[in-house]
Amino acid sequence: SSSKLLIKGGTVVNADRQEVADVYIEDGIIVSVQPNIKVGDDVTVLDATGKYVMPGGIDPHTHLEMEFMGTETIDDFFSGQAAALSGGTTMHIDFVIPVNGSLSAGFEAYAKKAKKSCMDYGFHMAITKWDEYVEREMEIMVKEKGINSFKFFLAYKGSLMINDELLLKGMKACKSLGALAMVHAENGDAVAEGQKKMIELGITGPEGHVLSRPPVLEGEATGRAIRLASFVNTPLYVVHVMSIDAMEEIAKARKAGQRVIGEPVVSGLVLDDSGLWDPDFTIAAKYVMSPPIRKQGHNKALQAALSTGLLQLVGTDHCTFNSTQKALGIDDFRKIPNGVNGIEERMHLVWDTMVESGKISVTDYVQITSTECARIFNIYPRKGAILAGSDADIIILNPNSSFQITAETHHSRTDTNVYEGRRGKGKVEVTIAGGRVVWKDGELKVLPGTGRYIEMPPFSYLFNGIDKADATYLSSLRAPVQRFKAAT
Ligand code: URP
Ligand code: ZN
Ligand code: ZN
Ligand code: ZN
Repeated sequence: SSSKLLIKGGTVVNADRQEVADVYIEDGIIVSVQPNIKVGDDVTVLDATGKYVMPGGIDPHTHLEMEFMGTETIDDFFSGQAAALSGGTTMHIDFVIPVNGSLSAGFEAYAKKAKKSCMDYGFHMAITKWDEYVEREMEIMVKEKGINSFKFFLAYKGSLMINDELLLKGMKACKSLGALAMVHAENGDAVAEGQKKMIELGITGPEGHVLSRPPVLEGEATGRAIRLASFVNTPLYVVHVMSIDAMEEIAKARKAGQRVIGEPVVSGLVLDDSGLWDPDFTIAAKYVMSPPIRKQGHNKALQAALSTGLLQLVGTDHCTFNSTQKALGIDDFRKIPNGVNGIEERMHLVWDTMVESGKISVTDYVQITSTECARIFNIYPRKGAILAGSDADIIILNPNSSFQITAETHHSRTDTNVYEGRRGKGKVEVTIAGGRVVWKDGELKVLPGTGRYIEMPPFSYLFNGIDKADATYLSSLRAPVQRFKAAT
């Protein structure tokens, strides 16, 4: 039966070590990891000799079934997750967007959309405006709904963007709840100026998207958010780090001991902006995302930062629209829905770009695609590890086989793929999610309703010692100066 599984003879990889061992699974949970496990004939056996057995990927950054820029992303919680599973990702964390500013209404809406899930998922929550209810609602999200991270947008002026005053309020609220503040770091006011300038110059095509929001605006907003997080003394997570400018701000802060996490996404690691100059609008528009995919060179620098640990984990920002949706911006790049695919391609592209090329080890691969995400969002070792007691979310990767990417065979609903035509070494041959074999021999066997909501508790390891640091700071302050009123 499928509830008892043995993975035999593979190299089992965790973030800190690898060993040849068998993995025995019962009812969705890993029961034991050791060499030569003997089982009865009621157990399904998968031979993994010569292959890597690793924790399933966890994608920290996705947007399934999100209403955005006048339309809705085309992958929902079923199609997006099916795509993910076929590429070795077994959990994702999606961003709940509040409904008319209400967090609880947003949560209920997303809980409903996610009912058709075929893999485990968690939620971050976006904070898009501030009113008298927000702080109380954040508290409910953290204490009752299993959300431990909130995203603040410093871009998308006129819709999602918030100002520094609200960012500070948000960071303070996060700190008091033991929740992690996340930022989309681009200077939205300057972006709006840049966009206006492009339109005035007659640049209305997708290349105007890149030209209007250069790396310096990402560097500025990243540095600002980092400094404000330092002022509040709370950890900060920078989503979709796309440029050297932003990466260097994060690196500098980390070297100074600040708790800043930087998340590059696959598009920023492997692509460059050349596609945005394609004369075919459909091709150019598929690459439009924010912050933009940068010039050649930024990608290599981000890869290097990931390999030395200056950046910590890889997401995708999977946010897909089909060509007709992208065509909303045929006359004006500002109206092209922002977003690219990646949930299905991440595990393969990171393997090929980072491991196959010799930049990182196989244990590091597990760290940046799975374990670090589980640690940050406080669900380790239930997720992100192959240990007795962990959830049986596992992939078998054959380093000698190869993958090939094309919109014709991918599982996402979108009709284009920003990685069209790419091939590389290393293929996810088997995906096991919740103890069930869902992907094997090129066949996907998924059922809506089998994915579970994973609650993420507050106070992750990033908060260890924060109270002490506050006390040190307060005790270092001098007493108020006694001043005497001038005689009148
Ligand atoms: O272009 C992007 N990144 N679309 C998704 C929304 C966001 O900012 O993450
Ligand atoms: Zn964003
Ligand atoms: Zn995003
Ligand atoms: Zn298929």
